[in-house]
Amino acid sequence: MNLTIVGTGYVGLVAGACFSQTGNNVICMDIDEQKIQHLKSGHIPIYEPGLETIVEGNIKKGRLEFTSNMKEAVQKSEIIFIAVGTPPDEDGSADLSHVLAVAKEIGKHMQNYKIIVNKSTVPIGTAEKVRDAVKKETDLEFDVVSNPEFLKEGAAVDDFMYPDRVIIGTSNPAVAETMRDLYAPFVRTGNPIIVMDEKSAEITKYAANSILATKISFMNDIANLCDLVGADIEMIRKGIGSDKRIGHSFIFPGVGYGGSCFPKDVKAIIRTAREYNYSLRVLEAVEEVNERQKLILIPKILDFFNGHLEGKTFAIWGLSFKPRTDDMREAPSISIMKELHRLGAKLQAHDPIALEEARRLQLKEYATFFEDNYDALKGADALILVTEWLDYREPDFFLIKKRLKNPVIFDGRNIYRPSKVRERGFQYFGIGRRI
Ligand SMILES: NC(=O)c1ccc[n+]([C@@H]2O[C@H](COP(=O)([O-])OP(=O)(O)OC[C@H]3O[C@@H](n4cnc5c(N)ncnc54)[C@H](O)[C@@H]3O)[C@@H](O)[C@H]2O)c1
Repeated sequence: MNLTIVGTGYVGLVAGACFSQTGNNVICMDIDEQKIQHLKSGHIPIYEPGLETIVEGNIKKGRLEFTSNMKEAVQKSEIIFIAVGTPPDEDGSADLSHVLAVAKEIGKHMQNYKIIVNKSTVPIGTAEKVRDAVKKETDLEFDVVSNPEFLKEGAAVDDFMYPDRVIIGTSNPAVAETMRDLYAPFVRTGNPIIVMDEKSAEITKYAANSILATKISFMNDIANLCDLVGADIEMIRKGIGSDKRIGHSFIFPGVGYGGSCFPKDVKAIIRTAREYNYSLRVLEAVEEVNERQKLILIPKILDFFNGHLEGKTFAIWGLSFKPRTDDMREAPSISIMKELHRLGAKLQAHDPIALEEARRLQLKEYATFFEDNYDALKGADALILVTEWLDYREPDFFLIKKRLKNPVIFDGRNIYRPSKVRERGFQYFGIGRRI
């Protein structure tokens, strides 16, 4: 099939690359001309394991191309995906201006029937809005499909290639059949393609992210209780995770969730419910707990240094919102660094992948960046671990101790075992940890 993906970010680029891998001809379009130039010259603008090889291979085979020319991108394809950003507006609702701008452009340039597929995460009723925006520009026939994406940054290619399920929101059986054909290569092991109406598809995406965010905030709340009563959250995590109804995933406590999806999607569904005079009270609490959790290490650090951080230096390990990505949107590291900086501390930060992104976000105002994680420790009063990169899991504790002024670790992801770290002569502070 001939496909166009509008928006060449994490979702658009991965979707475009993976669809070309299964033999489709794919045009990836973006208004960011610099991004398109980089992609044309073989430079992938994001860090995503496995993506570069697929992109390179399919460019060579002539199945994947990049453009910033919307007219050409619309006219050459039968199916057009919208995969542009839907950032939160000031009031927490999803900003649909990019999605609707693309819809308008599609309507303006189309010369025959198109299937327009919404892959961006969008509030309930957006398929209708997209339909109206296209209709204003053309009398030609078209269909709008809601096809939310569930990939995770850091494992995006695998998630796209082997999805747990594919959600297709359409009321037109013929369109559902075309979408089934497109996704058939990705569901050969029996993972379902679930066809439903557009609104239900839109809510499915928000509900999925909301329940995952809920698990995290719930666990963080219990971890904070563990700190108060002297219990160990790690044991509790294992204890409850073994219950099949609960499961082991998304119950790791830490300094809160970040990224481009959970924070904005939780806000957006709360906002949508308010428009219908309904309070999603569980999710309001999920958000509140997460905001508090991002700074949960600060009182522990203040306590340890008797309330004074002026003149202290801290090594920060990990800046991206989670491992295996360079994405720093809503990363807890940003809140932590800003707060420590406000309290007068100096920061020395390391991240295996996200330093370039941190520089782009002008975070140099808050921290000095180091290419080597052990260099970031030199002369620091303590180590603060913020992102659980594999690189940090089995560190050289002897070297850490040698480089730090005080052998103290604040572990924002509970990746070290307190008893082991203490045996090595460190003072250790995790989140809800005891043994
Ligand atoms: N990042 C994720 O892990 C993830 C996962 C599932 C769903 N989503 C959803 O997918 C959507 C895209 O997210 P993302 O992380 O890929 O965003 P992103 O910010 O990485 O990429 C969006 C791209 O769209 C481009 N764009 C904006 N307006 C445009 C226009 N008018 N025409 C052409 N291009 C335009 C931007 O230049 C940018 O390259 C969002 O709705 C997001 O919530 C994201």
